[in-house]
Amino acid sequence: MKFVRCNSIRENMVLARDLHLFDQESNKVLLLRKGAKLSTGYIKRLKEIGIVGAYIKDGIADEIEIHTVMQDEEKVKAILEVKHLFDASLSKTTDVTPEDVGKLQNVANSLVHNIIYENFVRISIGDIKSYDDYTYHHSLSVAVLSIAIGQVLGLPIDKLNKLGVCALLHDIGKTGISKHIIEKPAKLTFKEYAEVKQHALLGGIYLRERELVDDEIYNGVITHHERYDGKGYPHGLKGKKIPLFGRIIAIADVYDALTSNRPYRTPMTPTEAFEYIMGNSGIHFDPDIVDAFMRKVEPYPIGSCVMLSNGEVGIVINTFDELPLRPIVKVLKTNRIYNLQEDLSLIGLVIKGYYAEVNVEEVNL
Ligand SMILES: [Fe+2]
Repeated sequence: MKFVRCNSIRENMVLARDLHLFDQESNKVLLLRKGAKLSTGYIKRLKEIGIVGAYIKDGIADEIEIHTVMQDEEKVKAILEVKHLFDASLSKTTDVTPEDVGKLQNVANSLVHNIIYENFVRISIGDIKSYDDYTYHHSLSVAVLSIAIGQVLGLPIDKLNKLGVCALLHDIGKTGISKHIIEKPAKLTFKEYAEVKQHALLGGIYLRERELVDDEIYNGVITHHERYDGKGYPHGLKGKKIPLFGRIIAIADVYDALTSNRPYRTPMTPTEAFEYIMGNSGIHFDPDIVDAFMRKVEPYPIGSCVMLSNGEVGIVINTFDELPLRPIVKVLKTNRIYNLQEDLSLIGLVIKGYYAEVNVEEVNL
């Protein structure tokens, strides 16, 4: 099987896994069964719902098992809890209650449980990407990445649970910003950006005023846009003075945002996003946390279909902890194996991105 991005899904492709979808417009959960052949109608609907892609049976790498941190069904439930809480904070008539936060705590606990006990060596793009860029889904992705980083840093379970809740809530202040700015399909003006920047503080204040969270979560929410070099907001805190949760969520937030679709730009490939994060180690991000991120997040998991810089397309068949951008790739057309980590003659050969993200015309299959 392989993960195929939405734009590259074609008629009659066969689903390799059940696909649970949350249709925001109708507020319904849809289910497409494993083995279903995708019709043009289905594909159109998937695009309307905004899924990033689906696992497709292709006869080439079907023996490769792809594990994910959360099953789609659990993911949909978690997204609904996050949505419910964000809606309550948006509403003039209802308010977020401690029970709502308790439900997010359950989501965070189950993420921590899955990441720690189900033996997830690394977190992959399939763990964090099912839909395009809904705030709710972004929150869930940031929680998965943050918990994974926290685990590498050796945080105890109760801290990981708390970090998960903090990550799920990190952007709640966005519900206090004008909708037309949050949903604007273009770059923001200086004034609009200044308004968006309020969300970190607004979110923290909202939660604190209602006594919904403790200081550690409050501090994480308000500092998730601080930068290691002191050039972030709202307070311009520097280095380790930025609370730990804020430093962790900052990286998770940026990685997920860079690899997501935005109306005004295409997503970065994992290679580009990794390079951005490595290049900003000690500038935007805490180097220790960049290091933990690199050790835990998998840019090209086993089973990914990738395009190489020489134009060949292959499947990732093994990966290495030390150099996650240089796995072992089996070329589809020739069955040739490239060990990008160990074979020094391949030093100039790099992964350009997922095959489905690369222009199909460029590829000679
Ligand atoms: Fe934010």
